[in-house]
Amino acid sequence: MTLTVYPYECDAYGHLNEAAYLLLFERARWETIARGPGMHFFRKQGVWPAVRHATIDYKLPAFPGDVVDIHTDLVKLGNTSMELRQRMERPSDNTVLAEAHLVFVMIDNTGNPTAVPDEIQSLFGSRVSTRSGEVVRYDVGEVTLGVDIRGDGPALLFIHGFPLDRTIWKHQVSTLSGWRRIAPDLRGLGTSDVAKNYSMAAYADDMVRLLDRLRVQKAVVAGLSMGGYIAFEMVRRYKDRISGLILCDTKAEADSPEGKRGREEMIKLVESKGTAAIADQMISKVLGKTTLQINAPLVQQVREMMTKASPEGIAGALRAMRDREDSTPLLKTIDVPTLVVVGSEDELTPPPVAKAMASAIPGASMTTIPTAGHISPLESSTAVSRVFSEFLESLG
Ligand code: MLT
Repeated sequence: MTLTVYPYECDAYGHLNEAAYLLLFERARWETIARGPGMHFFRKQGVWPAVRHATIDYKLPAFPGDVVDIHTDLVKLGNTSMELRQRMERPSDNTVLAEAHLVFVMIDNTGNPTAVPDEIQSLFGSRVSTRSGEVVRYDVGEVTLGVDIRGDGPALLFIHGFPLDRTIWKHQVSTLSGWRRIAPDLRGLGTSDVAKNYSMAAYADDMVRLLDRLRVQKAVVAGLSMGGYIAFEMVRRYKDRISGLILCDTKAEADSPEGKRGREEMIKLVESKGTAAIADQMISKVLGKTTLQINAPLVQQVREMMTKASPEGIAGALRAMRDREDSTPLLKTIDVPTLVVVGSEDELTPPPVAKAMASAIPGASMTTIPTAGHISPLESSTAVSRVFSEFLESLG
């Protein structure tokens, strides 16, 4: 929203008055509503937004006659509350003048909290994350998830692996235009809340509640490794929400008794020595030998991703994977277009495992990505994005 600073909004020294910054932010919000559904929008819905909390950072002065751009982004959407971030910029000298953060509670005419109207999402642009890699926070019931959302079109949900976060998909999320790309951090990982409960069912519930919040009926679901286990849980319980599957560096089998013992050891490790010890143990397993040899920045990036995960989230994910069901019997029941992708150097779910899985899924196709390990979308990002794009195009 572009607004002009009026002389009467300025103080005796000729600067925009501090309270007037807040008024300009408010004017920008109302202008958005006035130019959209109209000023009576809230009254017609029988709700009113009450500001519960406001913070503002003043960065630079504005002066009479300045033309300012005000960007308003929905950064968190709860059942009865929402959070907006607003930024005032002066395009003439490319500066940021102020930033504000506001928490609103929707109240009805008795003063009690009530549901946020649906249209808020489209009004304040939550369909698209504000800047590359930034997250919008969505309350999905038990937890709030940080989600990177870009573009418009049919929905494509990206579910990351363990102990990683949404950024493993950053190339696909940036490039697969024509799709509404939705990349959440799983509970306990990345920017999402740490939760009490962890299970494949809880992760799948989070994904479906997120789709509900975004009003997405069906999505193509891409899952990497543990994300694949979650995609299988969605096939088991929410089949009607899936229009296609991309199974990346994953497998259908449950943990073997030895695998379960390995999970126990890792739980003890993260609880006693922290996330850096997990990163030390996992880094050479998850990345392919080529990446380890030639791509030191990516090795560092993945190490940091693992180290900054929460210990509770890591232990929770290990318990959820230890206890997951065998999804092999599900494979023959999958009746949506399916692509299996695997890195040629993936040692955790190697190409023969991917091949067996692909051949058990009716009509599935499979692609092996040369010189990539277990995180192929990050290790060979361009090749994986191209393979995804061809598959998505084939869906029509
Ligand atoms: C993952 O990448 O999500 C993990 O390797 C999965 C697992 O440990 O089974």
